[in-house]
Amino acid sequence: DLTRRGLLVGGAVAAGSTLAATGGYLAAPRPDERPGAPAAPAAEPFHGRHQAGIATGPQTHAVFLGLDLRPGTDREALGRLMRILTDDARRLTEGEAGLADAQPELAGVPARLTVTFGFGPALFTAAGLERLRPPIELPTFRIDRLQDRWSGGDLLVQLCSDDSVTLAHALRLIAKDARAFATVRWTQRGFRRPPTSQPAGQTQRNLMGQLDGTVQPTDLDKSVWIDDGPEWLRGGTLMVLRRIHMNLEKWDEADEAAKEFSIGRRLADGAPLTGRHEHDEPDFAAKDRIGFSVIHDAAHIRLARNHDPAQRMLRRSYNYDENVGPDGVTDTGLLFVSYQADLARQFIPVQQRLADADLLNAWTTPIGSAVFALPPGCTPSTWIGETLLA
Ligand code: HEM
Repeated sequence: DLTRRGLLVGGAVAAGSTLAATGGYLAAPRPDERPGAPAAPAAEPFHGRHQAGIATGPQTHAVFLGLDLRPGTDREALGRLMRILTDDARRLTEGEAGLADAQPELAGVPARLTVTFGFGPALFTAAGLERLRPPIELPTFRIDRLQDRWSGGDLLVQLCSDDSVTLAHALRLIAKDARAFATVRWTQRGFRRPPTSQPAGQTQRNLMGQLDGTVQPTDLDKSVWIDDGPEWLRGGTLMVLRRIHMNLEKWDEADEAAKEFSIGRRLADGAPLTGRHEHDEPDFAAKDRIGFSVIHDAAHIRLARNHDPAQRMLRRSYNYDENVGPDGVTDTGLLFVSYQADLARQFIPVQQRLADADLLNAWTTPIGSAVFALPPGCTPSTWIGETLLA
């Protein structure tokens, strides 16, 4: 009997413990007093034409949850699930407890929490809506060493927050509420430097030490948000999540010049090898004294470049760093995350060129891959996915 009464009568008291010794968890929920808390805890708006967590400045912590629908989870059940999850997300991002929240005292600090949902290929089949599925499959790339445990998934929940306690609470509530409808295929956690270490808006370093995220699209309406094709997806986008392992032991063996050569930018300040400042335009035609390209033909930034700025993908990647092996080697890499309106136009050609020739491939290996269609945002009276599932 896990009620207060039951514990008092049969459990805690009988065992000789006191309420104080239980940390007060038997007490009725009350608002978190949070000594020293900011007057207005930072909340990211949940409602809007687009889902939050895409154009939102990246928060410090992220967890990506890949779910597989249980057999029999059809369109109607999916509608119920998305209503529940939207309600959770709406409340949690506003600093309120979820409806079935067993730990409401953890809900008061949203810390810019965003909860973003995406639909994988098989969800459309389960819902009997295959005809409305956008092209969200990727070809196999030569460099791929994909593992099932990091790949695929019918439903994505992306949670991001500047506070890892907030994130743990939100993740638990969402995972609990999804249980009856889906099983967990994978959980991927990532992090970036917090705003206390580095001002928001400054390019961050990945775990190879490079400034990563310099070149981004200039107009999200053109490159990220979908405005044609199936009506239900307008205002949404497509997301690619690639788990890319970094062989840092091997990276340590490269000298600074080799490292800079492989990317085409300087490690110290992220400037292109042909420029002086991070945001200088790379000169891809520049040659050195003996006629070789200054930015190598197989340098990452040359091959990754989409020369039409309107066709650039929005990159919003996170570092990952799991347990250290018995040999003292870390399990480190990048959760590469990109959002784009069209995979065939924006992501696939870039990934194909990188797979074929990128110098960086000597140190990096994609071990997971998943693609989702992210529906548009919602209003206070609608839910995420309603445009497809209602
Ligand atoms: C640029 C690192 C994987 C697409 C860059 C830059 C770095 C970098 C340091 C230069 C600074 C910047 O503009 O952000 C990495 C690492 C990767 C990785 C360490 C793997 C662990 C990928 C993948 C893609 C990609 C898988 C897409 C398929 C891009 C694009 C640019 C870029 C589009 C901007 C190129 C430009 O127009 O200048 N990356 N990257 N990267 N990367 Fe990657």
